[in-house]
Amino acid sequence: MAATHPEYPMTDTSCGTTPWPRDSALPDDPQRRLWLAACGLAGGVAATGTAVPLVSTLAPSERARAQGAAVEVDIGDIPPGGMKTVEWRGKPVWVLRRTPAMLATLDAHDSALADPASARDQQPAYARNATRAIRDEFFVAVGICTHLGCSPTAMPAGSSNPALPADWAGGFFCPCHGSTFDLAGRVFRNKPAPTNLEVPPHRYLGATRLLIGDDTA
Ligand code: FES
Repeated sequence: MAATHPEYPMTDTSCGTTPWPRDSALPDDPQRRLWLAACGLAGGVAATGTAVPLVSTLAPSERARAQGAAVEVDIGDIPPGGMKTVEWRGKPVWVLRRTPAMLATLDAHDSALADPASARDQQPAYARNATRAIRDEFFVAVGICTHLGCSPTAMPAGSSNPALPADWAGGFFCPCHGSTFDLAGRVFRNKPAPTNLEVPPHRYLGATRLLIGDDTA
């Protein structure tokens, strides 16, 4: 189940589904960017500041989940270009539903990436591919920067953030030290983060059901 219990501080339903623009032709929207930033910060607080004390407040089923049980997620309500954040092992896990336009960006900047082929062990074998996914449409990743553990913020294509290049095609930006990741969680070169974002073990239970934390059939 997606984290919906009110005791989970990271369970902010307003941040549960992030409305990414469907393509880069959409105009820049300051309100959307602010909202995206708020979602990213919420995930970071939960991931770095409250995981341990939180456990003691949970009922047994929630405690088991926080300690590592798999989390089932309904992905049927994520719109194209939208993103849902759930909690697994006290970490934020993103499920981004990528549009064809978003997927098309992934093979356009390999030379700018530190590990374009995902050679380093940051994903299960079934996600060591061009989209780092089982289903190209859905990107599943732990939303924690691989540098020092901040929570990156979703940044749509065309963002006017001065820390991003003019040809930014959409991805994730870590506000702590400036690491940037593409829409498959691959880190760009010459950034503090040493590796791509982690893809957790996962599998699909059906067309709209995803299980995070368990990939054994
Ligand atoms: S923690 Fe993300 S760049 Fe340092």
